[in-house]
Amino acid sequence: MSEPREPALNVRGVAVYPGLLDRPAQEAMVQAVRRVVEAAPLFRPVTARGREMSVRMTSAGRVGWVSDRRGYRYEPRHPSGAPWPPIPPEALAVWRAVSGDSADPDCCIVNFYDAGAKMGMHQDRDEADFAHPVVSISLGDDALFRIGNRERGGKTESLWLRSGDVLVMGGKARLLHHGIDRVKPGTSTLLREGGRLNLTLRVAL
Ligand code: SIN
Ligand code: FE2
Repeated sequence: MSEPREPALNVRGVAVYPGLLDRPAQEAMVQAVRRVVEAAPLFRPVTARGREMSVRMTSAGRVGWVSDRRGYRYEPRHPSGAPWPPIPPEALAVWRAVSGDSADPDCCIVNFYDAGAKMGMHQDRDEADFAHPVVSISLGDDALFRIGNRERGGKTESLWLRSGDVLVMGGKARLLHHGIDRVKPGTSTLLREGGRLNLTLRVAL
């Protein structure tokens, strides 16, 4: 990882560090994600309304995020019943470099987007204390990230997130709506099979 520095971009209070992870750091992070996925395989969450999400997910940490017909929540175990693997030290290092938070995260959500996957506009609001930021790491293909408002709807701004980019949603930006409109296939050689990985670190409990 390069030295933590001032974010190069600030969109509505969302701090963006383009290319914070260089190629070797991205490769190490992918290896770490592979170990997480071996212990806690990716699954396709189902919304409370019974719709399958296009993104596949898993988690690391004391708790992980699950969604099924009972709704969204943090759980101490993967749907298989196994505890989540620990948060990779490489991801913790990114959190410590950019979060400005004295607490460490207890959850690292892993999202995998294939060519057709996206994520609708939402707020991250299942955590106990919004004083802690959310730190997000992008790996693989480019993704169009949309940033909205605290309330649903209204004007939005979009930016492309590229492999190695890190973003922090904290302070007044912590509860902004956001989502991924689309992923652009073939824009990165990081993942052998293509697609995009996103890690989000949070203090959930
Ligand atoms: C999310 O908001 O949970 C994921 C955002 C991303 O994939 O960059
Ligand atoms: Fe989110």
